[in-house]
Amino acid sequence: MQEERNGITLTILQEKGGCGKSCAIFNIAAYLSKKKNVLIIDLDGQAADISYFLFGNKVGDSQDPMRSDVKTIMHIFRGADPKDVIVPVKENLDIVPANTEVTGLLSIHKIKTFKDFINKMRKKYDYILIDVPPSPNWSHVLCLSVCDYVMPIVNPDAASPKAIIGLNDSVEEIQSTSNPSLEYLGIIMNKYNERTNIAKTMLQQTENIAKQLEVSLFDTKIHQSVLLEEHILSHQSIFEYAGKSKAAKEYKNLSEEIISRIAERRR
Ligand SMILES: Nc1ncnc2c1ncn2[C@@H]1O[C@H](COP(=O)(O)OP(=O)(O)OP(=O)(O)O)[C@@H](O)[C@H]1O
Ligand SMILES: [Mg+2]
Repeated sequence: MQEERNGITLTILQEKGGCGKSCAIFNIAAYLSKKKNVLIIDLDGQAADISYFLFGNKVGDSQDPMRSDVKTIMHIFRGADPKDVIVPVKENLDIVPANTEVTGLLSIHKIKTFKDFINKMRKKYDYILIDVPPSPNWSHVLCLSVCDYVMPIVNPDAASPKAIIGLNDSVEEIQSTSNPSLEYLGIIMNKYNERTNIAKTMLQQTENIAKQLEVSLFDTKIHQSVLLEEHILSHQSIFEYAGKSKAAKEYKNLSEEIISRIAERRR
């Protein structure tokens, strides 16, 4: 009989596009899956979503570059058996992939159905990581309604630190309705470059916002890196693409911080 687990559900969120959410989930999931069982759930469905990062245009046995023949979370909402939807990526790492149909998630797709699905998955996986699009649509409501922890991600630019304040409205709304146990785990700084003045200024601004929200930044910052642009085109995590690089080391350190913050909260 399969060992029963008590999976932790996480998401990385930002309402401004292109901050590196999918790339971060890809690499953190890859690191966690070295030792633990991990499921990624793709609730995005854009062309360059995490399903594409992992597989390119050919998800699992799919023959269609548009992935129209791929089973997604929509099939779970229609009552499909999870084992017919989940696609293995590699040892210890599986995904519920997405295609453009997933962009049509609406309030008819019930929070309860999604919670029931996640609760089943918690028994099979140690970590469940959910990737969402940037725009705050129903996929954000579903995702935040089932997550234990949310990690906002920012870039050191003029817009993204402030966008966390908008995000916090959504988090508070969910905390007061469908998921009172939702917590911030920490803020991820991505595409950092300490040589620029804007990066220093925006780091300070992010720290000020973090204080207001009573959350701290992770100590590890992910620096701007050409390797982190390239690796998604090879459909390999940074650990496979450039295992000895500074970027791989940063993702290892960030993942270890995530593991230890979760352990502290659960002590
Ligand atoms: N630290 C980094 N340095 C350089 N490029 C990065 C870094 N992190 C991510 N990228 C690149 O930034 C681009 C956007 O990343 P990604 O798709 O992960 O963002 P996203 O937040 O998921 O976007 P969307 O809002 O469209 O879902 C990708 O080309 C990715 O390779
Ligand atoms: Mg994305």
